[in-house]
Parts: sequence; structure tokens; C-alpha cells
Amino acid sequence: MDEKQFTPVNTYEYQALAKSKLPKMIYDYYASGADDQYTLEDNMAGFRRIRLRPRVLVDISVQDISTTLLGISSSFPLIIAPAAMQKMAHPQGEIAVARSAAKNKVIMTLSSLSTYSLEEVAESSPTGPKWFQLYIYKDRLVTRKLVERAEKAGYKALVLTVDAQRLGRREADIHNKFTLPQHLTFGNFKNWTASDDKIRTKKSQGSGIESYFATLMDPSVTWKDIAWLKTITKLPIILKGITTAEDAAKAVESGVAAIIVSNHGARQLDGMLATIDCVEEVVGAVRSLIPVFMDSGVRRGTDIIKALALGAQAVCVGRPILWGLAVSGEDGVDDVINLLRNEFHLGMGLVGCRSVNEIHRRMVKRQNDSCLGVSRSPKYDERLSQPIARL
Ligand SMILES: Cc1cc2nc3c(=O)[nH]c(=O)nc-3n(C[C@H](O)[C@H](O)[C@H](O)COP(=O)(O)O)c2cc1C
Repeated sequence: MDEKQFTPVNTYEYQALAKSKLPKMIYDYYASGADDQYTLEDNMAGFRRIRLRPRVLVDISVQDISTTLLGISSSFPLIIAPAAMQKMAHPQGEIAVARSAAKNKVIMTLSSLSTYSLEEVAESSPTGPKWFQLYIYKDRLVTRKLVERAEKAGYKALVLTVDAQRLGRREADIHNKFTLPQHLTFGNFKNWTASDDKIRTKKSQGSGIESYFATLMDPSVTWKDIAWLKTITKLPIILKGITTAEDAAKAVESGVAAIIVSNHGARQLDGMLATIDCVEEVVGAVRSLIPVFMDSGVRRGTDIIKALALGAQAVCVGRPILWGLAVSGEDGVDDVINLLRNEFHLGMGLVGCRSVNEIHRRMVKRQNDSCLGVSRSPKYDERLSQPIARL
């Protein structure tokens, strides 16, 4: 089949198409998880272990799938997760994603390691609500400047990533000697050449992003730094990367505005639980004091229903957005968001919910892997090769 005639109808097919378009080094950087990638597969398998319990004979002729997230209205409970270096997928990179997010009325989270600057992204889509993702650098001044700039540019919250004090070992990046292509730069650090230099490794070295983190990010960050961050910003702080009740309780105590249950798309600690398996524990510890969001492995509208049934207020999506961007820029991102929105809308109707508030715990039931037997979905890699074979 001619590639032009192939229209992806789900996020897996978008991934397959993106894989056929992107250079190997870039596709591998986007797609990979850490080490053996057990958690990468499990993030998606975790959703398959949870099954839906629909209610029938509910009048679903009028449905409202919108919601409000930290005071921001959203067309459905989806947030775009921060993902670094998006110009590698498409020349419009983060700007295409921000424009699509604004058009589709969802929140976009911009990575600190974006290839457009945070100001360029803010100006490109002034009406779209945006959050800014933050890492804490050894040089606190670098972090402080980013915070000030994000605040000035109108970002509505800071998303502090707390699961990446050291970078996970992504073996494909080591083999590929991953680096930021020469024609691109980190948009937020245009006058700080040390930033770009650290990712451009010599041919003999391994992953450039690993050496970037090892040299510049601060591995000594603790809860005290949350208190420090609060002194330098008025923006709400969201902690991204909490997966246990113990840390969730500390997060609430530290006075942050929300939590994102995340394992960084399985790119950090391989062998961790799938994040969907951490949601209930975190929600329980938070006791409704602050909102809980989740990410990692969301690929279907029904995954969003499952996350909400377990107590999350919304999900964030990472890779599916990058696949849409790689396939056809802003249009591709629009299409991925629409596919997920339509699947969520349909799924909500089929489980008998007229509004997001009606999704509740009794709508899901956990199944053991052993119960799933042969009916389990095809393995992830097989799913990816199917549409490619059809091209
Ligand atoms: C290519 C790529 C780059 C990422 N860059 C960042 C980043 O700069 N900061 C961050 O906090 N998380 C980053 N993440 C993690 C995402 O924010 C998110 O947690 C993850 O992608 C969710 O899993 P999913 O891809 O299965 O949806 C990145 C993920 C990917 C795939």
C-alpha cells in the first residue's frame, strides 16, 4: 500500500508510521525505555490488566467530556507531557504542539530541554494554557532564571521532574551515540554554550543526553529544594514522578499543588511498576487534598477512563504526540489528540457515563495476567510491525 493512502486510526499506527519516517537515532531516542524495557511494555500491559465494568440503559444522548484541571478548563482529561527536543521530529517542533494544544483546548507542558525557547512557544500560541517543566541544575541560577522567564511568559504552573536526578540507561542511545543534531540547539539556553556542548559527545562516547545530565543536573536535590523553589515563584508547583504512598504524603506536606504519577515513560528505572498500578496507592495517600494526574503508557481513550476510575483527574501523554508530530506536524498532533478524544468519548458512552464526574471505581476490575491467557492483545512490537507491513 502507498504510504500516502495509509491513514493511521490509532496511536499505535501513528508510531509505526513515525518509525518509518524518522532516522533511527531519533526514533530510538523517542521510543526507548531504560535497560531491558520491561517497564516500557508493562506500562501498556498494566492498562490491559484492568477491565471495564459498563452500566447499560443509561441515556447517553448528551455527554460532556470536558473537565477543569488546576483551574484551567480542558476539552477532555488529557495533558500533553513534556518531551525534549521536538524539532528532531518536525521543523515546527514545540510550536506545532503548542498550537495544536491551544486549538484543541488541552494543556501543553513544555520541556526545559525544548528546541524552541519558552518565549517563542508562548508567543506562538498565546491563548493556549501552558505549564513549564523544570529540572534542578547544579547551578541554581540556571533554574532560577528559567523559573523567572516561565513566569514572565505566562506559563500557569511549574512541573518539577523528580525522577531524573541521574538519567536512566537507554541502551539504544548508547549504541547510536545519541546527540542533538548539529543544526539544532536547546532553545532555552541560547547564550549558554555549555548546555549544547554537553550533549554533543565525541564519536567515541556514548549517549550525549546521559553526559548532559551527569554534568549539569544536580543529583543532591531533596525535599528542601521544593521549599527553596516555593520561595522563588508564585506559580503552583506540580511534582512529576511520584509513584509511592510515602512520597505522595511528603508531597502533600511540602505544599505542592498537584502530583503526576509517572515513571517517565519507563525511561528511568526499569523494573518499576507500571504507573497505572501506582495510581490507587498515591490517590489513597493524597486523600483528595490535591489533584493526582498520571502518565506513562496511555495509548487509548479507554486507558483514560481506567486512570480516572482509579482516582486520577487526568492523564498526560508523551510519545503519541511525538508520533503525530513526526508524521505530519501540527496536523498530526491534532489528529492524535482527536483520536484519543473520540475514543474517550465513545468509551465513556459505552461504560454509561454522561460526564467525567460519573467515572468511578466500580467501573474497573483488575485481572491477573494468568486470567488473560491467549486473549491478551498482540505484543507491542508485533503491533508496530503490522501497519508497516501494510505500507
Ligand atoms: C522523547 C521523550 C522525551 C522526554 N523528555 C522529558 C523531559 O524533558 N522532561 C520530563 O519531565 N519528562 C520527559 N519525558 C517523559 C514524559 O514527560 C512522560 O513522562 C512520558 O513520555 C509518558 O509516557 P508515554 O510516552 O508512554 O506517554 C520524555 C519522554 C519522551 C518519550
